[in-house]
Amino acid sequence: MGNIFSDRISDVPRSFIREILKLAVDESVISFAGGLPNRDLFPLEEIKKATGKLLEESGKDVLQYSSSEGFAELREWIAERYRSKHCHVHPDNILITSGSQQGMDLLGKTLLNDGDNVIIEEPGYLGAIQAFSIYKSTFHPVPVNEEGIELDPFHEIVSNHYVKIFYCVPNFQNPSGISYSEDNRKSVAHMLKGRPTILVEDDPYGELRFLGKEKSSFYQLLPENTVLLGSFSKTVVPSFRIGWIVANNEIMEKLVIAKQASDLHTNYFGQRIIHQYLKDNDIDGHINKIRQAYGKQRDAMVSAIQEHFPAEISYTHPEGGMFLWVTLPAGMSAMEIFKEAVKQKVAFVPGDPFYVNRKDVNTFRLNYSSVDEETIRIGINRLGNVLKTMIAGR
Ligand SMILES: Cc1ncc(COP(=O)(O)O)c(C=O)c1O
Repeated sequence: MGNIFSDRISDVPRSFIREILKLAVDESVISFAGGLPNRDLFPLEEIKKATGKLLEESGKDVLQYSSSEGFAELREWIAERYRSKHCHVHPDNILITSGSQQGMDLLGKTLLNDGDNVIIEEPGYLGAIQAFSIYKSTFHPVPVNEEGIELDPFHEIVSNHYVKIFYCVPNFQNPSGISYSEDNRKSVAHMLKGRPTILVEDDPYGELRFLGKEKSSFYQLLPENTVLLGSFSKTVVPSFRIGWIVANNEIMEKLVIAKQASDLHTNYFGQRIIHQYLKDNDIDGHINKIRQAYGKQRDAMVSAIQEHFPAEISYTHPEGGMFLWVTLPAGMSAMEIFKEAVKQKVAFVPGDPFYVNRKDVNTFRLNYSSVDEETIRIGINRLGNVLKTMIAGR
């Protein structure tokens, strides 16, 4: 039959995480490999009520096709929430998407030609690497640390190339858990000011801060260059697949065309349920519950790491979000540790898929949001034993 596939899809690898997680499906394995919100915090009763009320009161309206831009009242709600945080967004500049993941795909479709330069964080969000790979971008990974993006290599790339997109997750990044400091954000904004680069600020975790002070968003610091991605996946539920893009009028016009071509509009019933839920409930109270729970889970993981991991191992100190990033001594392979860890009934994600051009790296991701505190302590103890044995055997 020959090669029936487009070049576009042929070069994009299968999700590595799905492949390796097949090794960790056994129920007795404690898994820090997932990237899931804590299901015990899903507002099930409230969603049930919102759905019943909607069907009762709005009847067949909620079952009809709707507009490509998204449900107007939901867009107004989102704009109002930004306004309450001193971030001025007009509802016309919001496009409701099927999760923020679709935002990345639509931006790729709208902005990227083959070979266009894209700066991504190293390590970076796997879903963004996959989404932009489809559009055959040329990646320029720039390392991140506990202060944010490393400014020297960043400056060098933006000075020497026409960079189409800089994609970043400045709050509680996936996979590393780091956040950009206020100074780091200001330096990045300064370096991009007056350049044609679009800064894609992906912020699904921003509301999940359990420590420290809120920082300025790039949308505030550099509004003319910034496209913002948001999502209800981590603050309400992920299954509805409701997220959004905030973009200026010029970009929005093209994004709406791309959206129409992709799926006409985001699931309208889901948009209506989320909106009803937001209208009838105290979302701040709900988000506070999530923050407190993740803060405790994070603390349980950090204190177990302090107790059980060998001293040569370093790790990040997230102030929010769902992930923590571990660095092994130079030359050690997280993949090798992973194989041994699964035998000892504990799993994580080796760092490899979060880099575009490095293999057998010495880093890995731990998720704390979907595991309870007691299980975190047991799992980190198991992992500590594996690490001690592997380091002693080097
Ligand atoms: C950084 C980042 N962006 C986007 C997403 C996708 O979110 P959504 O469910 O809104 O598509 C995730 C999901 O884990 C993520 O970690």
